[in-house]
Amino acid sequence: MTDRKYVIDQMISAKSIAARIEELAKEIAGEFAGTDKLVVVGLLRGSFVFIADLVRELDLPVEVDFLEASSYGDGMESSREVRILKDLRGKIEGRDVLVVEDIVDTGYTLTHVTKFLATRKPARLRSIALLDKPSRREVPFTADWTGFTIPDEFVVGYGIDFAQRNRNLPYIGKVRFTEAV
Ligand code: IMP
Ligand code: MG
Repeated sequence: MTDRKYVIDQMISAKSIAARIEELAKEIAGEFAGTDKLVVVGLLRGSFVFIADLVRELDLPVEVDFLEASSYGDGMESSREVRILKDLRGKIEGRDVLVVEDIVDTGYTLTHVTKFLATRKPARLRSIALLDKPSRREVPFTADWTGFTIPDEFVVGYGIDFAQRNRNLPYIGKVRFTEAV
């Protein structure tokens, strides 16, 4: 499947993403004003570009940590069974935590990850997703902040991959197959 030929059509420009991140960062800084040190937790690997841009717009003391949950593998379908592959390095008990995800699709990943982190008793636990595909939801999950709501399209770029490719595109594009199966 992944060796089918495809092209990428731009959906969200780098400029629009940057403008939206500025707005989101202001809202987040408002919510966490006065925090001792916010722990910003990026979900590997898809959020690495987003978290890098987001923390640089955040006018707050932050610590950055990463968590890896099992993902799609090389396909386009969610496995629905989420496992933690790499845990945080730091402690979050009593701390303010913001989980940063690339896309909420079926909702399984963030549902599982937020439950997992909640068992460690953070003071506040919030989440942000750059993209949301609400029409694909199988379990109810809504991030506290969302960058853009998008239709049911498979997207790549700005950290997001298709079979580990296209993460380095500076914009979000949608995958369009050019040959029938
Ligand atoms: P969920 O558990 O179905 O909500 O899936 C979330 C994860 O699926 C995201 O972190 C992405 O890694 C992946 N994903 C969902 N939609 C897409 C897409 O359009 N392109 C690439 N990865 C996606
Ligand atoms: Mg992911």
